[in-house]
Amino acid sequence: MSELFSPTGGPRGLYIRTFGCQMNEYDSLRVQRLLAPLGYVPVSDICEADVIFLNTCSVREKAEQKVHSFIGSLRRLKKIKPHLKIIAGGCVAQQFGEKLLDRFDHLDIVLGTGGVSSIGQMLKRVEEKGGRLACMTGEENGVNDQSGGTEIFPRGSVTAPVTIMQGCNNYCTYCIVPYVRGPERSRPASEILEEVRSLESSGVREVLLLGQNVNSYGRGLAESSTFVDLLRRIRTETGIARIRFTTSHPKDLTDEMMQCFAEADILCKHLHLPVQSGSDRILARMNRGYTAAVYTEKIRKLRRICPQIALTSDIIVGFPGETEEDFKRTMDLLEEVRFDNLFSFRYSDRPKTSASAFPDKVRPETAANRLLALQSYQADVTLRKNLAEVGTERDVLAEGPSRASNGQMTGRTTHNRVVNFEAPLSTTGQIVGVKISFAYSHSLKGDVIVRSKAQPGRDL
Ligand code: SAH
Ligand code: SF4
Ligand code: F3S
Repeated sequence: MSELFSPTGGPRGLYIRTFGCQMNEYDSLRVQRLLAPLGYVPVSDICEADVIFLNTCSVREKAEQKVHSFIGSLRRLKKIKPHLKIIAGGCVAQQFGEKLLDRFDHLDIVLGTGGVSSIGQMLKRVEEKGGRLACMTGEENGVNDQSGGTEIFPRGSVTAPVTIMQGCNNYCTYCIVPYVRGPERSRPASEILEEVRSLESSGVREVLLLGQNVNSYGRGLAESSTFVDLLRRIRTETGIARIRFTTSHPKDLTDEMMQCFAEADILCKHLHLPVQSGSDRILARMNRGYTAAVYTEKIRKLRRICPQIALTSDIIVGFPGETEEDFKRTMDLLEEVRFDNLFSFRYSDRPKTSASAFPDKVRPETAANRLLALQSYQADVTLRKNLAEVGTERDVLAEGPSRASNGQMTGRTTHNRVVNFEAPLSTTGQIVGVKISFAYSHSLKGDVIVRSKAQPGRDL
């Protein structure tokens, strides 16, 4: 263990492990920021930690199991380092509450999804008075923590998430999110704009607006605002270079929203629009609120408005009652739309959800085979779409050195494709022109091109 991180005095090591979605990633950054004034410094080696924060996900059984086994694996570390404090936050913490403390006697704090902003207080209490705590209630409209300033990110981050709303009211019959994240609440636009401006001043060029259903942003806010209003305000009232958002629910995708892709130059031309199934019978049982025809018509309209738009989606296979015919409809929809990329999952029973009580469960082998067929079909489409990029010139926001650490830089196109290219580190944060030379299944490679026209940051 490094001398630097001692249990008494001096900076202390904070190790954060994030499971699940970008909401959790955002919350993990908040934890980092909230604990900084208390002397906690992020460490990447778990052995250097004085505090471990696990931000957990329970969206599928597998995700939850991963969390349980990770917590279990920390027992040994705690034996060697008794002063170590282990905190579980996120959706599994919310789901189990105090029961997690009963199950894992080496766990010190359980923090519900509404309790992130009290982490400092909880930790102090446990460190000073000992004992173990479960904090299941709290703020959580207030994601804008006032303590410790407004800078969330270490300087140098080029892209940053911004939560614009929490929770969900949709109650899709398979989904645990409304139970672990609570009802939908939007953050006031003024607070979001302030956060975007603060990120911008610390060097961030691209923001990713987060919500379970961003298209319904603004419902219930005192100062009336729609998602489109919010996008327009970010565009006109901040100097941010790029905006992305996720996730949209197809039932709430309006014509006005679609139009934004044609108008707003700083809005990246990529829409993640989870369809879940291509069968109307299954969509109804999922409580999704649209049919396959409504979905594909929206896609057609969107492509008329913005022909270049990249589309990605989520699919669940093996939902209770899904027949071969239903699955074929999903495959037909994929063939019709030809998504740029897809996230596909085998249905998993989740506690409290109504689908978990549906009687006609699909055999696991059948669901596994369907998933395999769907994924191999999509891998082919994705690769072909990537191959079609070869020879094109794209604006790429340089995010930093590529993970492969081969001296290359990495960034994304407006279509959310990862591009690696040779360029000096000093291009970080710039939008550079790149001519695509190679396509792989998950990324592209290209060469920086010199363009006659200067590239102002907001020109996409
Ligand atoms: N709010 C987003 C996504 C939430 S969860 C939306 O509405 O699209 C992310 C994805 O996990 C979902 O789109 C769905 O495809 C998948 N998912 C959620 N619950 C699941 C379950 N019980 N079994 C399998 N996949 C699930
Ligand atoms: Fe879950 Fe449906 Fe809400 Fe998405 S919209 S979080 S899938 S309940
Ligand atoms: Fe998982 Fe919770 Fe996100 S269940 S997907 S971490 S909202």
